[in-house]
Amino acid sequence: MSKFYVTTPIYYVNDVPHVGHAYTTLAADVIARYYRLQLGKNNVFFLTGTDEHGQKVAQAAEENKQTPKEYADSVAPRFKEAWKSLKIYYDYFIRTTEKRHEAVASQLLQKIRDNGYIVEGVYKGWYCVGCEKFLTKTELVNGRCPLHINKEPVYQEERNYFLKLKELSKVILEKIKSGEYEIHPISKKNEILSRLELGVEDISISREGVSWGIPVPWDKNQTIYVWVEALMNYYSATQFLDGKKRFWPADLHIVGKDILWFHSVIWQALLIAADLPLPKHIFAHGFFTIDGQKMSKSLGNVISPKELIVRYGVDGTRYLLLSAVKFGSDGDIEYSKFDEKYNADLANGLGNLIARTAKMAESVNLPGRELKDISLNIGVAIQLVKSDVKEFTRALDLIWKKISKADKFINENKVWALERNLKISALEKLTDDILQIAADLKPFLPETAEKIERQFKGPEIKSENPLFPRL
Ligand code: MSP
Repeated sequence: MSKFYVTTPIYYVNDVPHVGHAYTTLAADVIARYYRLQLGKNNVFFLTGTDEHGQKVAQAAEENKQTPKEYADSVAPRFKEAWKSLKIYYDYFIRTTEKRHEAVASQLLQKIRDNGYIVEGVYKGWYCVGCEKFLTKTELVNGRCPLHINKEPVYQEERNYFLKLKELSKVILEKIKSGEYEIHPISKKNEILSRLELGVEDISISREGVSWGIPVPWDKNQTIYVWVEALMNYYSATQFLDGKKRFWPADLHIVGKDILWFHSVIWQALLIAADLPLPKHIFAHGFFTIDGQKMSKSLGNVISPKELIVRYGVDGTRYLLLSAVKFGSDGDIEYSKFDEKYNADLANGLGNLIARTAKMAESVNLPGRELKDISLNIGVAIQLVKSDVKEFTRALDLIWKKISKADKFINENKVWALERNLKISALEKLTDDILQIAADLKPFLPETAEKIERQFKGPEIKSENPLFPRL
């Protein structure tokens, strides 16, 4: 494989970054870092950004007494800052209000129409502004959107343009069944398949009453439905950025399970209708709850990445989020559990191994070392990141097994009490193990991996401040 293209959802600017957004973006960062080590920097493209049109953003702007654009301009940088503070290195941050995105989205929709996949019709139904979508009868619970109980859905009847999803869905069903288009985890793939097998209706892809959006190219009284042009960001960035055309189709879309339908069905339908190659793989991860409760502004339990960084440091936060739950499953996060895990795995586990080994190495003036086998420099455990199931937690488990093994080696051989020559060879072995651990850690804890390499690659190994001070 000569290139790898990974994306995150583009986040609505009506909210500021929280751990949920951070989790998705962090996962993409680990994957991008892994592929950069494998394929070289220039062959990887990692895209993230913000979703800035639609009713929800327009309403939030109005409440803030700003124009939607001013409002988006003030919130988008908060996402950039959050990713920077977590050492997330994306290649491009797209904003859907960029003129060049608007241009590509509009051309794409025109092409879909020219290909005969758009028809006119009237939409009647309930719209949830929180989800930015029309809800079907089966989705409504007691007349409300189950995800936005506090917001009443709005009844709407408008003249819209529709995408022939019913017809397109047959092709999608086949592509998912044949494995040409992969969805993970398998449980989520099966949910999509059963929904497709039940049959789907054509969907509205434009809005008459929403002015904050990209105009429908052939009808200036309508704007493109926000989800449709938002999905198009994945394609548009590859088209308007220099030298990025070769990255289409995407190799992997990472999304939360809440938006899998949009990504695995609607997005595929739009691409098929536009005659474009389809993304290869989509991974839907689970949702975090906080102390057993849904994370929400109204409950006041939203955790920001900043809060975590203050408490656990950058790599501490990366480790705790990535190891919190098996990638793909839901899970609960709790500060007390994070504290415990931080002390056990980072302060005591990794931190202590590095500190005690460096101290002993310093006492015998041990010179730094290089990993002999170059291929090990990319790390063995992280091969699991490459697997279809993106086994972050298993990879981290394997690395932590190596850490315990090295610790056990020190204790069982009482390395500190060995006579000088035996001590030196024991420490050489430990140094090699540690360098291997650092190589494995690179995509997950980049700063820590770098610090460890600097310390153990030489010229002389010296004792340094603890990597993870105990809480
Ligand atoms: N703008 C759309 C996406 C368009 S992509 C073409 C959107 N934005 S969002 O701001 O609501 O972000 C949703 C994403 O944030 C989820 O898919 C998920 O990746 C992440 N999460 C939001 N809350 C989360 C949790 N509580 N737990 C884990 N991830 C969560 O939807």
